[in-house]
Amino acid sequence: MPILANAFATLCRVPVLRKLLWKRWYQFLAGINPKRPWTFMNYGYESFDKPLAIPLESEDEADRYSIQLYHMVVGQTPLGGRDVLEVGSGRGGGASYIQRYFHPKSTTGLDYSEKAVAYCNRVHHVKGLSFRQGDAEALPFSEEAFDVVLNVESSHCYGNLAAFFSEVRRVLRPGGLFVHADFRSSDQVEPWIALLKDSGMGIVEQREITPNVLAALDADNQRKMQIIQESVPKALVKPFLDFAGMKGSSVYEYFRKREMQYMLFVMRKP
Ligand SMILES: C[S@@+](CC[C@H](N)C(=O)[O-])C[C@H]1O[C@@H](n2cnc3c(N)ncnc32)[C@H](O)[C@@H]1O
Repeated sequence: MPILANAFATLCRVPVLRKLLWKRWYQFLAGINPKRPWTFMNYGYESFDKPLAIPLESEDEADRYSIQLYHMVVGQTPLGGRDVLEVGSGRGGGASYIQRYFHPKSTTGLDYSEKAVAYCNRVHHVKGLSFRQGDAEALPFSEEAFDVVLNVESSHCYGNLAAFFSEVRRVLRPGGLFVHADFRSSDQVEPWIALLKDSGMGIVEQREITPNVLAALDADNQRKMQIIQESVPKALVKPFLDFAGMKGSSVYEYFRKREMQYMLFVMRKP
């Protein structure tokens, strides 16, 4: 494992540092302006059996694997006419996809990086879609404001996961759904599930999708490598290869050996 990534992973074991370091990183990323549009920051999903074949507008084709992750996470969750909150919306591609393709009444993207939120407000102009700054552990919304809370590849950055789950429960309407996907080192998966079981929401679905995420990393490797080479300062290329889960990086190897597992959960508030 590269020295930088090793030090980062060690520091991230301390919740307060984890939150601080990730915030710094995402603030920095939001300031990068690559030559081509860059609105997703997840590892993606690829299906093994038959291709998902989601019909996409040509402008969305380049993000197919990241979009497929959102598509799988949303699954059967009804979104039409609902109020949706995405916590950890990043550069906004996922929230925009949800609002444009599933037609909820509204989609609100929330991220603690002010720069990411400013970027989203500049780039995404879709009716019903809005972005605001805030912390997953203290959501700036009133009780029972949303029908669905969506959370994709963000919770590994949080300092207090139990506080986040409690906030999700608070802002969901009764019967509302929480769709949650992320990765953890394999020794952290059981404690994570235990917190979900303690959240006051019931588990409707629980699935490991590590092989599908790995397949997406394989399939999207070349495109992402081009973007990194074009846009990332030379000194940062190595940590970036890890962050992006490029083939041969430590993150890729962790997934391959299943030392890191990618999980998908659907939870329902009673
Ligand atoms: C890997 S990115 C994923 C972004 C997006 N969901 C996607 O799939 O493209 C993780 C995002 O979570 C955000 N995040 C991390 N900790 C957060 C917190 N405590 N509150 C809100 N957002 C947070 C980061 O700023 C970052 O934009």
